Amino acid sequence: MNTSLEHFLLPVNSTVQNALKVIDQNAQGICFIVDEFQRPVGILTDGDLRRAFLNGTKLQDGVEYIMNRNFTVLPFDTHTDIINGNLNQKIKHIPLVDQDGRLVDFANKFRTKRIPIMQPQLSGNELAYVSDCITSGWISSQGSYVKRFEEAFTKYCQMPYALAVSNGTTSLHLALVSLGIGAGDEVIIPDFTFAATINAILYTGAVPVIVDVDLTSWTIDPICIKKAITPKTKAIMPVHIYGHAADMDVIMEIANEHQLFVIEDSAEALGSTYHDQPIGSFGDVSSFSFFGNKTITTGEGGMLLFKDKAVYERAAILRDHGMSKNKRYWHDMIGFNYRMTNMQAAVGVAQMERVDDIVYHKRKIAQFYDQALRKYPSLQLHGEKDHTTNSYWLYTFLIKESSKFNREELAERLAKNGIETRPTFYPMHSMPIYAKYGRKEDLKNSIYISETGLSLPSYADITMEELENVTAAIATAFTTIAFNQIEN
Ligand SMILES: Cc1ncc(COP(=O)(O)O)c(C=O)c1O
Repeated sequence: MNTSLEHFLLPVNSTVQNALKVIDQNAQGICFIVDEFQRPVGILTDGDLRRAFLNGTKLQDGVEYIMNRNFTVLPFDTHTDIINGNLNQKIKHIPLVDQDGRLVDFANKFRTKRIPIMQPQLSGNELAYVSDCITSGWISSQGSYVKRFEEAFTKYCQMPYALAVSNGTTSLHLALVSLGIGAGDEVIIPDFTFAATINAILYTGAVPVIVDVDLTSWTIDPICIKKAITPKTKAIMPVHIYGHAADMDVIMEIANEHQLFVIEDSAEALGSTYHDQPIGSFGDVSSFSFFGNKTITTGEGGMLLFKDKAVYERAAILRDHGMSKNKRYWHDMIGFNYRMTNMQAAVGVAQMERVDDIVYHKRKIAQFYDQALRKYPSLQLHGEKDHTTNSYWLYTFLIKESSKFNREELAERLAKNGIETRPTFYPMHSMPIYAKYGRKEDLKNSIYISETGLSLPSYADITMEELENVTAAIATAFTTIAFNQIEN
């Protein structure tokens, strides 16, 4: 049985014999008739064909005379419940179209669920704890869950002090400001990251200095850090990208030698380790994000971890409008409102109760993908460097330049099978607003990873059936894309 979309399509100028062939090959008793732009114009089932033959239709007649023009169409991102609500005894197949009306997928009772790249797991105590906030009235940033969430983090990451904040970008900004970094300072960052890393530095008036990454771990290359240090350098901000730990021993050594601060951007790496020590426990300050697609989520949210009590205390004041701890409504510093609400923290506490389980499943997913994809020489898997464990925020691989097809072709194939994928981040220097902070000639690895990387569905409760669907669709893509190229 062939379930990918191309086995169901038939151009509107085809014959009844062509339709029979398509239906025979997909073995599902149906085909979708499309116009030159791949917009659905009719549906034909094996039942329609039988009835047409009884009425005298011949094999060489056109399908347009017998196809069913009256059918339900839905946008491809329609919620599963709504799709299910439209399926019934009469409507057994629903074409799903993109914003241009092009047929990109279809649903039937066995095929209503798309496989997203990420989705949160909120099946523990999340609802009970949020209900507790609401029934008790403790919904803003005062309330016991904020402290409980912070404590859970200090324990999990083995750091002495924690502050919950409003998101992973405000947390990076607060980290920099509480370390006293500002105008005239330079902060070294990797080119391959999400824009929040560089934006946080720019908010402070400091200058980001963009350097290249290592081709295996995709994290900041320590050799490039060394070359970028100047008398103005104040800090290094490694990013544990896609869950892979940066080379923290070497980075800390460089930082100690040059008396630089280290701020770990750990937004994507909760649960990863380096030399058996949790990510987030190496730098002076480390920062996490709990956006909806992160390893654990609070909807929006962030966390800062500190080694030094004085820096933590300063950050706590800055988080709360810069207000004095001893004199209410007296402001010693120009602060921010970067607090997390008790309701967000309530979700966070429930998530931390299951963090080990979530990370365990994400590592199992990576193992499954690794095993299935290792056999393709044109893929470069991310994996783990020695002495690291990856929590695989998003399972991501590179499609080598030598491959017969590129990432976009593979992504399109998977999308047609209802599988969401995501290309890797753009390199920071490639965007005009950041171009002056790095030199393209020095950033080759970052460019390569950015142009060839693709992430697969990676949520902790993905089912074995869904995982098998993803790897089967990749296998089909390898066969059919390569085959088409030989034919052309
Ligand atoms: C590496 C990195 N840093 C920082 C952030 C910012 O986090 P947030 O979206 O919570 O502001 C993100 C994620 O979005 C990220 O991936």
